[in-house]
Amino acid sequence: MFDRETSRRHFIRYLAASPLLAHWGLSGCSPQGSSGPGSAAGAGGGDPALEARIAAVLDSPESAINLFDFEAMAEAVLPPAHWGYLVTGVDGDETRLANRTGFDRFQLRPRRLVDVSSVDMSVNLLGQDWPTPIVLSPVGSQRAWHEDGELAAARGSSARNHHQILSTVSTVSIEDVNAVRDVPAWYQLYPTSSWEVAQVLVSRAEDAGCDTLVLTVDLGVGSNRETLERLILTDTRDCTECHEAEAPSDDPMNFPTGWLERKPMFDGLDMSRVNFDTPFMDWEWVARLRSITDLRIVIKGIMRDDDAARCVAEGMDGIIVSNHGGRAEPSGRSTIEALPEVVDAVRGRIPVLVDGGIRRGSDILKAMAIGADAVCIGRPYIWGMACFGQAGVETVLGILTEELRVAMQLHGVASLGDLDRSFVTRG
Ligand code: GLV
Repeated sequence: MFDRETSRRHFIRYLAASPLLAHWGLSGCSPQGSSGPGSAAGAGGGDPALEARIAAVLDSPESAINLFDFEAMAEAVLPPAHWGYLVTGVDGDETRLANRTGFDRFQLRPRRLVDVSSVDMSVNLLGQDWPTPIVLSPVGSQRAWHEDGELAAARGSSARNHHQILSTVSTVSIEDVNAVRDVPAWYQLYPTSSWEVAQVLVSRAEDAGCDTLVLTVDLGVGSNRETLERLILTDTRDCTECHEAEAPSDDPMNFPTGWLERKPMFDGLDMSRVNFDTPFMDWEWVARLRSITDLRIVIKGIMRDDDAARCVAEGMDGIIVSNHGGRAEPSGRSTIEALPEVVDAVRGRIPVLVDGGIRRGSDILKAMAIGADAVCIGRPYIWGMACFGQAGVETVLGILTEELRVAMQLHGVASLGDLDRSFVTRG
């Protein structure tokens, strides 16, 4: 029988042994008046609010059954502001939530009496074979969640043979990430307000062995991250060691002053007059980027058919259907609902990937049946990382892969190549 008190003790022991304790203080933002969850007083370090948050996840203390278990654990163990940065959408989080509920609007149509004793989940992405279609989305600032940050993601994804896209605003450089990966990461480009900075970032990606840039086009100006703002207000720690100054009051994204300078991809650059805004970015700008590099360019943030067709016309090498995890525009439109028109416009000429709200193997099956060539996950691997570092990243990828395998078998899909729109319907 489930014994809540035993489970609680077990979970506190697990927390004490978990790598997450090591990074709690290393973020430089220790809880005020407490040494963190590993202190003698127990997992909450005597902090009743933290104890309460940890207690909230005791129903699954031993092992995660699905990705949402990692989400609950990550929320329990992360400082509120860091959790806030991860969880936030924009305005009332409508777009972020739509990404998830969008999947409910599609149902799978199982095919019966198909031999699925062996299942082929492999895909080929721009010439590279992968055993599954699951790719790590770029997520910035990963050392806010674990001391190893992007290295945990790089090691974990490489060990399990998944592709990774590294964010420009990473806390580990592209050189260090590629050093621990078998296949170099794709490099996500935030060009910043300075063309010169963009050029330096592109040549660093080239020199580090990347073959593909992922140009994000959906966050040209700051977005209204209210959930983040509210959670920052509940965070009582002294954060000045890592965050030198508060965000300027006119910065709705809450990026603290000096945050760009601290990112390793901007090492050696004078960032004093540079900011993150790129409202000027247009197709002419993309053509200019095209002209300075032989790297392939994948455009991330496409949500409609005419933009998708333009990507093909402009010689882009791929598309990621994305609304930035619902943390950019408040459109309220989910990526899975945008996927069909993008796939139809592209007509197989370049690969189409999709991210946003993918939490289940069946979500992947729906996206692939609609016509995606691969899928990207963001927050879930950070949940795993926040709890267990590299091992958490690997477990998240393992659970999702296993769910995909079973979903394929139960819907009569022996190979992802057999999927077509007959496997999905919109209710
Ligand atoms: C950066 O990409 C962010 O969404 O915060």
